[in-house]
Amino acid sequence: MELKEQQGLTPRQIVAELDKYIVGQKEAKRSVSIALRNRWRRLNSEPEIREEIIPNNILMIGPTGVGKTEIARRLARLSGAPFVKVEASKFTEVGYVGRDVESMIRDLTDIALNIVKEEMQERVKEKAKKIVENKILDILIPPVKKKKSSGTSTGDEVGFNPERASDEELNERTRERFREKLKNGELEDRDIEIEVASKKNPMMQVFGPQGMEEMGFNLQDMLGNMAKGNKKSKRTMPIREAREVMLDQEAEKLIDHDAAIQEALERVQNQGIVFIDEIDKVAEGSSGGGKSGGGGPDVSRQGVQRDLLPIVEGSAVSTKHGIVKTDHILFIGSGAFHVSKPSDMIPELQGRFPIRVELDSLTEEDFYKILTVPKNALTKQYQAMLKTEGVTINFNEEAIREVASIAAQVNQQVENIGARRLHTILSSLLEELLFAVPDDIGSGTIDIDKSYVNKQLAGLVKDKDLSHFIL
Ligand SMILES: Nc1ncnc2c1ncn2[C@@H]1O[C@H](COP(=O)(O)OP(=O)(O)OP(=O)(O)O)[C@@H](O)[C@H]1O
Ligand SMILES: [Mg+2]
Repeated sequence: MELKEQQGLTPRQIVAELDKYIVGQKEAKRSVSIALRNRWRRLNSEPEIREEIIPNNILMIGPTGVGKTEIARRLARLSGAPFVKVEASKFTEVGYVGRDVESMIRDLTDIALNIVKEEMQERVKEKAKKIVENKILDILIPPVKKKKSSGTSTGDEVGFNPERASDEELNERTRERFREKLKNGELEDRDIEIEVASKKNPMMQVFGPQGMEEMGFNLQDMLGNMAKGNKKSKRTMPIREAREVMLDQEAEKLIDHDAAIQEALERVQNQGIVFIDEIDKVAEGSSGGGKSGGGGPDVSRQGVQRDLLPIVEGSAVSTKHGIVKTDHILFIGSGAFHVSKPSDMIPELQGRFPIRVELDSLTEEDFYKILTVPKNALTKQYQAMLKTEGVTINFNEEAIREVASIAAQVNQQVENIGARRLHTILSSLLEELLFAVPDDIGSGTIDIDKSYVNKQLAGLVKDKDLSHFIL
């Protein structure tokens, strides 16, 4: 079974993968690696016990911008698991109260279905490619229909007809020539007319009344389907584009949609990960009701917790693709828990998040690493972008140390927003450069050293008001 293999990473391997993107936070990485491996263990366990094993839901506790969301996101990506991130605080908003916390499961199911469909399409790609090449050829040089000399026809065609034969032969030869040309990419720019299913009209976005979706209806889809039948339009485009469009269409036709839905439901139930951000915001006790004005908000917060409970505990949620049992979905709660404590959550919910990990605040040294080590480090991102304009930028070590130091400083003076500070600082640092390329600065190499950093940022850092707004 494919999903088992996908999840075959050992805890150590998972941590090693996470290390490529996230600096520090050892404990959190360990916990999520165990949780992920445990699902693999569960899926491979004896069927009698399999249903009994419940997931190790995790509560990640730590200040803002230290990698909580990033860890969960990377985890999902490397396991190929369906993943959705929701904000617990959203559920207190008007219209979100009540049963609609179930929407997270519906979203997760949609995501799973997309993943599965994409995989399936990937598998039929070669087949689809062949079909598409033939279709393109048919559009370029329509085949001459070979008329079977079936005796029942008019009689003219019985026997050998040299003219027709040469027609067919000619046609066949031309087709072969074009087939070669197509293969060699000689016809990529030639326009052809193809049929395209018109995309859903964005103006037709329909928001059904609340509860509609819960019943398994989806107005959008219903209307979409009604319109689909006759909404095929013809469009002319170069072969290189047409091929992509047709590939999607053919692949879509080749896959088994019922099987896709079944597989998606399986995946959601066994591998799904729901990341509930800001779960501390719905924990009670925060500022003790005094500030929040007479317990009103507390009541709704508790309401949200009560709504969350059955989903986290395991219940059946109906989605438009079928029923999803949430018993084995992994939930990762996350929050700063500055004001409220995990113990402020209702006991049942606390019990459903047995694993607690604290994430550390990031230090100057961490910032330095975050700027240099991860595969997607910000410095690498800017380098990659400028490279497209023929400009190479080199950050020397001192410069990066200086940026890290400024980040730590501003975090301390203004507000600690963790590694997010690096985004604002780097964009300020490079603003001038990014504007000047390519108009004033053509291709070449630019060294960014400590003095450049100070020139760009010193003023901002010293001026409290400025750093407040800009950094
Ligand atoms: N330890 C880290 N290593 C590498 N990058 C990090 C780390 N922590 C944060 N980042 C980067 O900082 C940004 C914000 O991180 P993230 O979204 O994980 O914050 P968070 O802990 O979820 O904060 P919040 O509580 O506000 O949601 C991301 O772009 C992420 O790449
Ligand atoms: Mg987050």
